[in-house]
Amino acid sequence: MRHAPIDPQLFIENRHRLKRLLRPNSIALLNANDILPTNADGSLRIVPNSDLFYLSGVEQEESTLLLFPDADDPSLREILFLRETSDVIAVWEGHKLTKDEARQISGIKNIQWTSAFPPLLHRLMCEAEHVYLNANEHKRAGSAVQTREMRFVEEIRRQFPLHHYHRLARLLHRLRIVKSRWEIDLLQQACAITEAGFRRVARFTRPGVNECEIEAEFIHEFTRRRATFAYSPIIAAGRNACILHYIQNDQPCRNGDLLLLDVGASYANYNSDLTRTIPVSGRFTPRQRRVYNAVLRVLRGLMAELSPARRYKDWQKSAEAMIEKELVDLGLLTIRDLRKQGQDRASLKRYFMHGAGHPLGLDVHDVGFTTEPFAPGWVMTIEPGIYIPEEQMAVRLENDVLITETGVVDLMAKIPIEADSIEELMHR
Ligand code: GLY
Ligand code: MN
Ligand code: MN
Repeated sequence: MRHAPIDPQLFIENRHRLKRLLRPNSIALLNANDILPTNADGSLRIVPNSDLFYLSGVEQEESTLLLFPDADDPSLREILFLRETSDVIAVWEGHKLTKDEARQISGIKNIQWTSAFPPLLHRLMCEAEHVYLNANEHKRAGSAVQTREMRFVEEIRRQFPLHHYHRLARLLHRLRIVKSRWEIDLLQQACAITEAGFRRVARFTRPGVNECEIEAEFIHEFTRRRATFAYSPIIAAGRNACILHYIQNDQPCRNGDLLLLDVGASYANYNSDLTRTIPVSGRFTPRQRRVYNAVLRVLRGLMAELSPARRYKDWQKSAEAMIEKELVDLGLLTIRDLRKQGQDRASLKRYFMHGAGHPLGLDVHDVGFTTEPFAPGWVMTIEPGIYIPEEQMAVRLENDVLITETGVVDLMAKIPIEADSIEELMHR
């Protein structure tokens, strides 16, 4: 792993918190993600399973975690199963975790090789009543490809059809939405790396550079700081910024364009999610500055309204009302347009058509419950935007914040956001 070691207490406490939510006499099982194949004999780099990482700190392929808090034998209450290395693996793939290393990372004492899993599972299943299995229950998760976890779910239910099975994901979402101090520290580190990338790019950007050259500047800064892209970066000049998921990043940046940068670093699997919109020339035109300041006002308004007990739905409505007002002031809509529009808010949606933010953590669109009130410990993004294809431009701004009892802490407070400070940074 590239990141610095993480205090294993993070994972130890996460397991404690989960155990308190399990029914008596329950086993919980979690698996690593597949290494996804591409073409020929190619494959992607493994993306660690967020839940397995959350409970163990382990990022290695083929790992399985078994938790059985009520096991009669105390040494079998937490077991981590790892892929055993060999001479061949050592030559072709390099180092795999030793049992001692896995103990240090996870705080789990009982580390076994995966060959020990079938007999131990059989023995413990005979003792257990309930079984908690994991699945990707993110509302927008794709299901076209069967995950390693789902293959496991099918197999264990075939082998042990008479146990009571339960959903682990619901419990994990409840835990993961509230961030601990270690997690906040890691998220803050991810934001700091993103800041370094943004500052580099702001100084680098000038008319004539291609969007992909800007992507290269980010990746240089992120990789040397032991981070990766948290998601495919959106580097969109001019009209491209009106395409919400623009990731081609292959067009020239022209004098007079605004450049939308939606780029975040992932450090130790914790993600940041930043958007800044900067003028390619280094100076906003008066019109660009007006749109920019409108979006900035909405961001600040939404930050003030992100308080415990508020509900996502109401916060989103508030975002829409703020943006509608700005659209009228910018001459893009009239009061009459707003009165005329139906429940679907079609007029607003010509210029703003997405969510005001989302939970952030081990996943960029992190797990959680947007149907429940905000609570202290949640980390959220705030990301208003105004998209004006007829003017070949869009402005979106996005910061990551921690919700506390007394208001939000802006984890991106140090990243320039005022139009003047963006210009100053670009001219340095
Ligand atoms: N970059 C993805 C998002 O802003 O949600
Ligand atoms: Mn976001
Ligand atoms: Mn973003």
